Amino acid sequence: MKTIVVYKSKSGFTKRYAEWIAEELKCDIYAYENFTQNSIAKYDLLIYGTRIHAGKVDGLKKIKKLFANDKSFNMIVFATGATPSEAEDVINKTWKANFSEEELKRFPHFYMQSGLNYEKMGLIDRLIMKIFAKILSRKKDKNLDEVGCEQAIGSSYNISSREYILPLVQFVRGMK
Ligand SMILES: Cc1cc2nc3c(=O)[nH]c(=O)nc-3n(C[C@H](O)[C@H](O)[C@H](O)COP(=O)(O)O)c2cc1C
Repeated sequence: MKTIVVYKSKSGFTKRYAEWIAEELKCDIYAYENFTQNSIAKYDLLIYGTRIHAGKVDGLKKIKKLFANDKSFNMIVFATGATPSEAEDVINKTWKANFSEEELKRFPHFYMQSGLNYEKMGLIDRLIMKIFAKILSRKKDKNLDEVGCEQAIGSSYNISSREYILPLVQFVRGMK
């Protein structure tokens, strides 16, 4: 199965995961910015990797639109985010907000925890994080998750790990 990994990455976490996946599957890799529908025509499987941004799976709408009329189109999505892997409710809610019931069944999807990188973040993202931190700090009666989140977003951190690609890699190997 000829496979390509296409990644959309602002601060580098998704790029790193995409590189690990491409290395493991020994397949081609492309940055989202350079990719066109034609450039992936010769592939049987697209693995699309991106970040979760304020609850949205970034760039997914455009990809889905591009292939809306191609019923033979095979795509697996992986999304990176600051949410810890254990927060399954939050992660499932995010998938449900970004995929229809039909899409959830059609497109296998995987979550990989990453972190925050203030040094590589864009200006607007930094501003959003600042506002979010302020809202959290002013909130009274914070629950444990909110306290943890408030501590975590104070500075850059990295909780990504190569092992988190394994469920996706095993899934792809099982497709062959
Ligand atoms: C403004 C902003 C909003 C974010 N929203 C979420 C979110 O809703 N859920 C989540 O898990 N992570 C969220 N994150 C964390 C990013 O998803 C995480 O850092 C991601 O791995 C970045 O990918 P990249 O380095 O490839 O750009 C957010 C980060 C920023 C800066």
